[in-house]
Amino acid sequence: MWRVEIPCAIGDEDIVLAQLLGLDLAAADTDTPGIVKVWFAARNDAEQAGGAIFAIFEEEVQNWNESWQSEWSAQPVGQRLWLTPPWEDAPAPQGRLKLAMHPGTLFGNGDHPTTLLCLEALERHFTPGCTVADIGCGSGLLQQAAKLLGAATAIGCDLDFSAAQTAPDAFQGSADAIATKSIDVVIANIQLGVLERILPELHRIARRTIIISGLLENQHVEGATDIHIKDGWISLTLKPPY
Ligand SMILES: C[S@@+](CC[C@H](N)C(=O)[O-])C[C@H]1O[C@@H](n2cnc3c(N)ncnc32)[C@H](O)[C@@H]1O
Repeated sequence: MWRVEIPCAIGDEDIVLAQLLGLDLAAADTDTPGIVKVWFAARNDAEQAGGAIFAIFEEEVQNWNESWQSEWSAQPVGQRLWLTPPWEDAPAPQGRLKLAMHPGTLFGNGDHPTTLLCLEALERHFTPGCTVADIGCGSGLLQQAAKLLGAATAIGCDLDFSAAQTAPDAFQGSADAIATKSIDVVIANIQLGVLERILPELHRIARRTIIISGLLENQHVEGATDIHIKDGWISLTLKPPY
């Protein structure tokens, strides 16, 4: 497996990744501010990814499940969820719903503070039978949580083909493909540069609440309420008078 690291401006990681999506990517990672990491099975494909300055590394193919087994254990999230590795057989403590993490390279496996912030915000703004959409759904963990909590529907979309293939009820694309005022709770855990561009679309599709994360502690969005911080990352809510 070949890993390519592409430096970029902090906040532009998803924009850079979006430009690579026509290539034969095996996996992608935009968690490191200022660096986009992408993996390819063949070195020839990896070389196609380079724009300006980049580095290519050869890596052993990882067994994600094995590396996860040593690192992950179940944990409570918010008031109602119990986040567990998928191999955990024990039931959730009374009153909590068991939500299985997704080992692997897709974002949204449950180990990132912004995903945890989104799960907690989803719980706070959830009403039984509501409709939920996760814009940039990664592995689909937030949709899975919404369904466990009792959502009528929980759709996802992502520019990344492998995310759209992995997440349940997801499509490859973005919020512009979703009908106007069709979603009660819209979630977007994406870097600020992308969020600012897609915010009008989020307002167009949202009926009630927009939950945003993926922002650093010092980044702000006008009109934000319900601001929560975890390990230097924030989540916030937009509730315009629709
Ligand atoms: C930080 S991950 C969030 C994954 C998951 N929602 C979570 O909270 O754990 C952001 C995802 O947004 C996707 N993405 C970036 N820009 C997007 C856009 N304009 N529309 C849809 N998805 C986008 C990326 O491919 C990535 O999978």
